[in-house]
Amino acid sequence: MLQESESSVAAQVLSRKAQKLCDLLGLQTSVAIKGQINLGTGTPDFPTPAHIIEAGKGALDEGYTSYTPWIGIPQLREAIAAKLQTDNGLRVDPESEVLVTTGTQEALMVTMLSLVDPAEEVLIPSPYYGQYEQDLILAGGRLVPVPTFEQDDFEVDPREIEKRITSKTKAILLVSPSNPTANVLYRETLDGVAEIAEKYNLIVISDELYEKYVYEDYKHYSIGSFPGMWERTITINGFSKCYSMTGWRVGYIAAPARFISGMLPIKHAMTICAPAMSQWAALAALTGPQDWWREVMTEYGKRRRFWMESLDEMGLTYGVPRGAYYIFVSITSTGLSSEQFVAALREEARVVVGSGAHYGEEGEGYVRVSLAVPFSLLEEGLDRMKKVVRVFQARRK
Ligand SMILES: Cc1ncc(COP(=O)(O)O)c(C=O)c1O
Repeated sequence: MLQESESSVAAQVLSRKAQKLCDLLGLQTSVAIKGQINLGTGTPDFPTPAHIIEAGKGALDEGYTSYTPWIGIPQLREAIAAKLQTDNGLRVDPESEVLVTTGTQEALMVTMLSLVDPAEEVLIPSPYYGQYEQDLILAGGRLVPVPTFEQDDFEVDPREIEKRITSKTKAILLVSPSNPTANVLYRETLDGVAEIAEKYNLIVISDELYEKYVYEDYKHYSIGSFPGMWERTITINGFSKCYSMTGWRVGYIAAPARFISGMLPIKHAMTICAPAMSQWAALAALTGPQDWWREVMTEYGKRRRFWMESLDEMGLTYGVPRGAYYIFVSITSTGLSSEQFVAALREEARVVVGSGAHYGEEGEGYVRVSLAVPFSLLEEGLDRMKKVVRVFQARRK
């Protein structure tokens, strides 16, 4: 049997991190505990819309069960290019500037492996989606966190990015709307980042997976559409969150052809192509009706308000959730660390939330909670959470 010492340093680091991740997310309880309520889920709770499922089934019936071109079926690449023009203001050549991937997760890995050489650095606002760090470890690169704070609703300050630029800096990675902080970057912030990227000749990686989840008057912008930015921006998106297609595994990268051609061999090495039937389903997602989305946002908007009121009542503070479907909640008033809080909630109330410690150092003292929980569970889960929070807060008085 392979000893740990025989596996690569990257694999060893990742396996320790993966173990920690399981502990933090409560994944070791893979058999659901009876009566447990997951208030921290990352999966949308509405089903994949029926017309998308039909398109997937139809593709199977029509025999689309083989490999597709590595880069993705032309029909989907064209639909993605059209969507990027209409929704995001990006003019993209579907032939050479769109790569369909097996989920956004693969898009991120392909991007890091093709872009980042050993010892190069990528600046990322922190708290951040933990996978970025693992991708960078595998690429041999280094994640440089740029701290963001609850009092700013986790908005990154471009000056803080600039301060951390070194001769090794390769790229700035942004995720807006953000997992886990629910921040949606302001136009002015993105202007500031664009200016820095041009000044220091850096690449911008823009993860826009949650783009349609935006509340109130907040607005999502694609930095690749800003003047002069297309040439240096890698836009990453997918179907998991906005079409509830997490299990279908389709994402994509839009970037200048010189980037895409470097990514193709890596994409091939990883999965050859995205699942054929899922690509046809993704095509239906982009070209089919979009009116159902309003209903999703109305519901998520109600849950967002309910969560905020409940947290206010508990005396827990948070950054105002502008987008995505999370809230990043401070639990310092309980006197517990993130991990202790997650464990206490799980053991004493059978409620699961995500530990903020999984999202970089700045996440310590926080938990990630989710709006993707139906009211039937949310009310009960929050009642239980309130009781646990009260007990720990009272002990501190
Ligand atoms: C910010 C972010 N990027 C990428 C992913 C990966 O998503 P998928 O591979 O399902 O498209 C996730 C999943 O939770 C995420 O939150």
